[in-house]
Amino acid sequence: MNIHAKSPEQIQAQVAAYTREAVEDTGYWKGREHEEVFRNIGNFAAGPAVDHYYTVEHEGMLDDAETTESYHDISADGYIDYLRSKGGRRHQAIEQRKKFLDAYADFAPDVTPLVTELKQIGRVERGFHPSLLGTGTNASAHSFEHGGKQYIVKLVHGSKSNGALASDRRLHDLERGYGLHPRLEQLAAISYDDGAAVMERMSGADLWHSPLANIAAISKPQLREALHVMHIAQDAGIGFDPNGSNFMYSPEDGFGFIDYNASAETYSDKLLFFVDAISTMGMYNDAKQTREDFMLENAENVLRISALQKLRSICDSEPDQENYTLAIEAIDERIARADEYIRNVATPGWLENQLAVRPVSESPTHVRSDSNTSRQPIDTM
Ligand SMILES: Nc1ncnc2c1ncn2[C@@H]1O[C@H](COP(=O)(O)OP(=O)(O)OP(=O)(O)O)[C@@H](O)[C@H]1O
Ligand SMILES: [Mg+2]
Repeated sequence: MNIHAKSPEQIQAQVAAYTREAVEDTGYWKGREHEEVFRNIGNFAAGPAVDHYYTVEHEGMLDDAETTESYHDISADGYIDYLRSKGGRRHQAIEQRKKFLDAYADFAPDVTPLVTELKQIGRVERGFHPSLLGTGTNASAHSFEHGGKQYIVKLVHGSKSNGALASDRRLHDLERGYGLHPRLEQLAAISYDDGAAVMERMSGADLWHSPLANIAAISKPQLREALHVMHIAQDAGIGFDPNGSNFMYSPEDGFGFIDYNASAETYSDKLLFFVDAISTMGMYNDAKQTREDFMLENAENVLRISALQKLRSICDSEPDQENYTLAIEAIDERIARADEYIRNVATPGWLENQLAVRPVSESPTHVRSDSNTSRQPIDTM
């Protein structure tokens, strides 16, 4: 096999597919074998030695001392056997990676300077960079333009983070929704060298960061369309990360779903996440220090109830009611909670009391304690 005639993208695609499909993760923190391969993946493509390309060093890395002896060895033989058994470049896991790695070449003139700058300035400054669109627990998303269209590039936090592996995981997850629907986040390209993934920019704001006007704009047809897109996602084996930061809404284009993963969950689960996300719309505005803060949340709750009632009436009229039972219960519970807040605010003295017991310096309760329930994909490659 003449591996040297292959492009760097082809070799990277092969090594990546082999590592993720055929090299066992020992389960050590985030998979040490995969970490190491992806850190060095640029070198495999550049150098003459794909053979013998990697042997894991492992000294005292595992809790169980007996297993530290030789928990994995990524061998050249294993790699060659893998390529033969899968039919080489035609294998889907290789072909897909190659497609998204090749696509990056087009974006490189626009995105590489941005990525280079963002990596130099580090995580904190990234949070203030004019390109910043949003930030999550793992990554920040930065916008840029390419060929007259808006895209975003996602970078994992921290200068030592493994952007190559993170990008490969994004590929594994987002590949499920590729070309299926514009309101399912669309991957455009990845680069192991830049440690970056490029996506199409989705219009709107994520639900946590939605302004009041967005909550007010939610219409029944948009909710119906959201349920339709969720059905498409369900059929494609897509799972949602339930945080409201992973659901988008634009008054013009309706709801959208980002940061999804390849995992098993029911349609009923998806509905529950969606209900929860709607009931937390605008949550990042919910600092409660002044009368205005309380009144803003009051206004949000009024609009959240209205949106949830629309959703409830749609759920009520669906034929396959068994899928909707839990969602309807959740809607009623969220409406009751929002309603209680509104009644409290309307109760004479309640607001004054709240303001009196709340020191002005208290930090705003922006994030609910139960909000960080990021789900791990069940189907890890
Ligand atoms: N394709 C997109 N279009 C528009 N905005 C986006 C897109 N992807 C991400 N964002 C914004 O960036 C934020 C963080 O992105 P993302 O959810 O992918 O990061 P993460 O760290 O993986 O998230 P999490 O904290 O949910 O694990 C989102 O909440 C959203 O505001
Ligand atoms: Mg997210």
